[in-house]
Amino acid sequence: MGSRLVGYGSYLPERVMTNQDFEKIMDTSDEWIVQRTGMRERHFARDDETVVDMATIAAKRALENAKLKIDDIDLVICASTSPELDFPSVAVQVLGKLGATKNIPAYDVRGACTGFIYALHCARAFFTAGMHERILIIGAEKMSRFIDWSDRSTAVLFGDGAGAMIFERSTSSYSGIIDTVVMSDGREFDMLHGSPDHHIIMNGPETYKKAVELMPNAAQYIMDHAGITADNVDWIIPHQANLRIITSGAARLGFPLEKILVTVDKHANTSAASGVLAIAYAFDNGILKHGQLVLYPAFGSGLTWGAALIRV
Ligand code: UT7
Repeated sequence: MGSRLVGYGSYLPERVMTNQDFEKIMDTSDEWIVQRTGMRERHFARDDETVVDMATIAAKRALENAKLKIDDIDLVICASTSPELDFPSVAVQVLGKLGATKNIPAYDVRGACTGFIYALHCARAFFTAGMHERILIIGAEKMSRFIDWSDRSTAVLFGDGAGAMIFERSTSSYSGIIDTVVMSDGREFDMLHGSPDHHIIMNGPETYKKAVELMPNAAQYIMDHAGITADNVDWIIPHQANLRIITSGAARLGFPLEKILVTVDKHANTSAASGVLAIAYAFDNGILKHGQLVLYPAFGSGLTWGAALIRV
């Protein structure tokens, strides 16, 4: 038992905040941000725009893309670090907004920037066990909620947005979500975490060192497990936290520059939404083609890390 991708969708808020906009309000520069992170702009949701709103639009677009209705789905998993409400889950609120009339199971996973990989991991297990037919997976974040405007070292790094993918059960084990691996290490919790007053606390250089080690490790594990090399993979689409992390990790794995998909310049770090937003961007711009093999490693707060191998 395996799966196949039947639809995708994404949503980016209208408001764009450029590096130059940051220059006007804090002691930073376009040059520093581009050089250290590769980021040039990011999207910020309106004050009245919630994670649920963004998740709902991305999910609706994925359903349209798949030519399905919400009642055709039999499980919804949403990866989000930034929901406005502690309960209920974003996933169940999306069901309500989309007008589901069936009792579809829906829940959230919290794996920070690795959240979408955790959701893919759950979906793969359910397909393998033959437990679900069609799973809608959403990654949605309003990271701008957490910005500490007095801390230039984290304020410039994040963005908002949502992406969604729909997978269907298939008899092929070499399409859809082919393989996943997820890891965590709670001992490194204080390297990157949220504070009680909802701000991002990060030791940037230490987090950087872990990211360049652990993301490629997870990706290599998946390639070894699948018996493939970088030559067999069409695209590496990593979590978009920093251009230097992306390019050095991909180079370590043997990926040439032209196989690395980068959206960190346009979206900045959208946490659990970053990989799925990048996949949607690549489809929308004719970069990614159906049938291609994508390796998607991620890393984030927890620490959490992992990777997925997806034939899209
Ligand atoms: O998605 C989850 C995982 N997250 C990550 O993987 C992020 C990992 N970390 C990073 O990407 C990088 O560590 C950062 C981009 C966050 C920071 O880059 P860095 O090269 O590690 O810089 P740094 O923190 O070592 O700071 C270097 C200098 C400092 O100044 P001094 O002490 O050398 O005078 C900072 O104060 O850069 C300064 N700085 C800034 N300057 C201008 C920090 N933030 C800024 C800023 N504008 N926004």
